[in-house]
Amino acid sequence: MAKLWRCEICGDPYIGDEAPSNCPFCGAKREYIKEFKEAKVNFDVELTEKDKANVEKALQLEVSNTNFYFCSSKKVKEEEGKKLFKILGKVEAEHASIWKKILKLESIPSSNDECSEDYLEDLKESHQREENAIGFYKKAAEEADNERVKEIFIALVEVESDHLALSEERGAK
Ligand SMILES: [Fe+2]
Ligand SMILES: [Fe+2]
Ligand SMILES: [Zn+2]
Repeated sequence: MAKLWRCEICGDPYIGDEAPSNCPFCGAKREYIKEFKEAKVNFDVELTEKDKANVEKALQLEVSNTNFYFCSSKKVKEEEGKKLFKILGKVEAEHASIWKKILKLESIPSSNDECSEDYLEDLKESHQREENAIGFYKKAAEEADNERVKEIFIALVEVESDHLALSEERGAK
């Protein structure tokens, strides 16, 4: 029987007989997906100067990766590449929206990002971008003062690691 689930990282709901293995929106792992009533979702947090600076940097990083992936999705010829970059773009946009809520912003900042028409070139850039995200998120998680901010950074390290694996499997290193 279908149940209503909720992701504790992005707060989005999901209808299904079982919880998904990953949140379909932000990619968070199974452990963060709870039955709706049990899910603890909070975006109203106190940010220290350091946490605020790290969250602002995270937002900019996610916006930039979103733009890069949507650019690649439009430019590459391969059907798989188009779809892979499209879903990656959607997930990064969801990450940007998490940070936007934490920062209580009205809108998402802009960013100018280019991409190649060549699938492998974009996979290589994806690899580099995800590696960057993982490195920064790990450091930000370690130094986070706020527990909720720390939780999101830790969850997103796992998601970006999944993204890294996808480009590695396709020959990017
Ligand atoms: Fe992300
Ligand atoms: Fe990613
Ligand atoms: Zn989620």
